[in-house]
Amino acid sequence: MSQNTKKQHAAREALKYVEENAVLGVGTGSTVNFFIDGLEAIKSRIRGAVSSSQASTARLQKMGIPVLDLNEVDHFDIYVDGADEINPALEMIKGGGAALTREKIVAAVARKFVCIVDDTKTVDVLGAFPLPVEVIPMAREYVARELKKLGGNPVWRKDCTTDNGNQILDVHDLRIVNPGALEKEINAIPGVVTVGLFSKRGADVLIVGTEDGVRVSEKS
Ligand code: A5P
Repeated sequence: MSQNTKKQHAAREALKYVEENAVLGVGTGSTVNFFIDGLEAIKSRIRGAVSSSQASTARLQKMGIPVLDLNEVDHFDIYVDGADEINPALEMIKGGGAALTREKIVAAVARKFVCIVDDTKTVDVLGAFPLPVEVIPMAREYVARELKKLGGNPVWRKDCTTDNGNQILDVHDLRIVNPGALEKEINAIPGVVTVGLFSKRGADVLIVGTEDGVRVSEKS
């Protein structure tokens, strides 16, 4: 079974969490794209979606799903998104698609974060996937030096400008045993907009697409 089929199965399972008349938070990436495609069949039963990127907004709108401004929505029940890595405590690395800042904002507002991944994304310890950090462009080299002091090896993602007009450093060679502490520490570096560690606001539900179907677990 291909990785895409596993992603598709996880995305289909997440549709079960969508309630009548709901506003949904929608993440970004290839797994979420399958989820958005699945919304087509039930779009008359939802009020709309808050999107985490220009790419997801375009896909939602193409499907005829109203995209709502987060400032007009004070709460909603679920946020559905993928991850680059997720550990047993349902803490994640995200931002491979450069949408980490808006993802973190939309996830913060949702009552429940439903994470959909294929089984290549589950790990015991985060860090094999380079940790994305969105930075204000003028601070890039300063932030890179600070990240080196933390033991990482930051690499500027040169071909990438985020939806917020910023740049991304991908931090290699980290073994993240305390994601909560590292999230705080990196967020405190001047010039950092967002670190792609989702520990403070991790996932509540994890749906993993595997060879044998989907595996669903909840945060303990
Ligand atoms: C986007 O910036 C990311 O956080 C994605 O959620 C993450 O990269 C997962 O993407 P895929 O579903 O494409 O693997």
